[in-house]
Amino acid sequence: MDQHTREWRAEHANFVRLLDLIDAQVAVFHGGGRPDYELMLDVMHYMTCYPDRYHHLREDLAFEGVFERVPDLRALADELAAQHLRIARAGAKLVEDLGAIVDGAVLPRATVEADASAYTRFMRQHMQREEAAIFPALDRVLAPRDWLLIDARVHFVADPMFGEVVQDRYRTLHQRIASQVGCGCAEVGCGCAEIGA
Ligand SMILES: [Fe+2]
Ligand SMILES: [Fe+2]
Repeated sequence: MDQHTREWRAEHANFVRLLDLIDAQVAVFHGGGRPDYELMLDVMHYMTCYPDRYHHLREDLAFEGVFERVPDLRALADELAAQHLRIARAGAKLVEDLGAIVDGAVLPRATVEADASAYTRFMRQHMQREEAAIFPALDRVLAPRDWLLIDARVHFVADPMFGEVVQDRYRTLHQRIASQVGCGCAEVGCGCAEIGA
């Protein structure tokens, strides 16, 4: 397995942890409670800042590299790239709606919860499909030189939550996840192998 797809699978596992947090808040809503909208907003803010702007961008370039050589994979690569756009649009809308709720606006909460639920379901399916259908092809087809060219085309973005430095905005989220995985780290930005790619 190439280092890149290994990293991407690890990032997917991180994203799943965040999607789990959203789903847990949606369950609170359906149980009649008040979801932690600030937490949901932080998750969605991260999803639009890191996966949408960096993880998906690199995947798009790798998918292009594959379908140029394996034309049979073109339809799948196009479909996954289109899903990236759909995920980015849905994520941006959720950031807007959750931000409005946090700021006190009156929005139909059931609609926002349904949108959040649809987002997590779609994102999970998307990542499962990538791992099952296209990552093995990337490993097979792309050579180290191809990966170098892909890396050179995208400006590096450090992961602001699971990377070495946790941005202030994501400290609460990071702590929540640290307590979930039970890594025992009291400090934020612990760099623990349990959290992060
Ligand atoms: Fe993707
Ligand atoms: Fe991905």
